[in-house]
Amino acid sequence: MTELDIAVEAALAAAALQRQGPKEVRHKGAIDLVTEVDLASEAAIREVLQRHHPGVPILGEEGGGAEQAVTRWVVDPLDGTTNFVHGLPHYGPSVALEVDGVPSVGVVIDVSRGEVFRAARGGGAWCNERRLRVSEVRELDQALVATGFAYDRREQERAAFYLERVQRVLEACQGVRRAGAAALDMAWVAAGRLDAYWEYQLGRWDVAAGVVLIEEAGGTVAWLDGPQMSQRPCPLVSNGHLHAAFDALIRR
Ligand code: IPD
Ligand code: CA
Ligand code: CA
Repeated sequence: MTELDIAVEAALAAAALQRQGPKEVRHKGAIDLVTEVDLASEAAIREVLQRHHPGVPILGEEGGGAEQAVTRWVVDPLDGTTNFVHGLPHYGPSVALEVDGVPSVGVVIDVSRGEVFRAARGGGAWCNERRLRVSEVRELDQALVATGFAYDRREQERAAFYLERVQRVLEACQGVRRAGAAALDMAWVAAGRLDAYWEYQLGRWDVAAGVVLIEEAGGTVAWLDGPQMSQRPCPLVSNGHLHAAFDALIRR
C-alpha cells in the first residue's frame, strides 16, 4: 500500500461518518464550532494511519500531537464544519503527509459531491479518475478567485483588513467566492474551477493537502507571511499564469 493509498483509505473512513450528518455541536470559540462528527472523524483517520503507518506521528486539528515533528501526517478531520452544521453541502476531510516539512501526499474529499481529490509528489493530481490541471486564465479581469475569513475576524481591525483585500479583488477580478472550506478551495484551484485563492491565519491541516494538489496540477503556491509554510499559514495560490499580478494585488 502506498502512502497515498493509506491517506485515501483514512479520508474515506471519515467521509463515511460525515455522510450521516451532524450530531452534537459545541463551541470552540464564539463562532468556531466542533461536532461529535469532527471528533469521530479524527479518531477514524488516526486509526487507519496508525494501523498502516505506525511509526509516523500525527498532527490533528482536534487532537493535536506531533507539533515538533517534520515528518508527520497532518489531518483536518472535517474542513468546513460551519457548512456541515448548517446542512450546506460543502465540507470534508483533509489528510496530508509532510516529509521533512514539505507536503508530499494530499487527499481532500468533497463528501456531498463524492469527489476524492488526491496527489502524491511526482504522480500528478487527480479527482476520482480525472487528472487535474490548473486553469489557463491569464488576466485578473477573467479570474474567478476565492478567499476565506479566519476565526480571528472579530478581533480588532481584522474584518476591515480582510474586507479591504476583498474590495481590491472585486474591483480587479471577474468574481470572488467564499465557500467555507479552505481545503476544498485549494482543491478547486488544482481542478481549474478557481483561478486563485488567498486566506490568512489558517492551520497546516487546512492547506497541506492542497499544496500537493496544486503543485501537481501545475499551479503555484506562495505564502503571505513568509517564504515557507508557517504554523499559521497564509496561502496565496493560483494557476501560476496570473500569480505575479494576483500577488501584487493582495500584498499592495
Ligand atoms: C475553516 C474553513 C474555512 C476557513 C477557516 C477554517 P474548519 O476550517 O476551512 O473555510 O475560512 O478559516 O478554519 O474550522 O471548518 O475546519
Ligand atoms: Ca479547516
Ligand atoms: Ca476542521
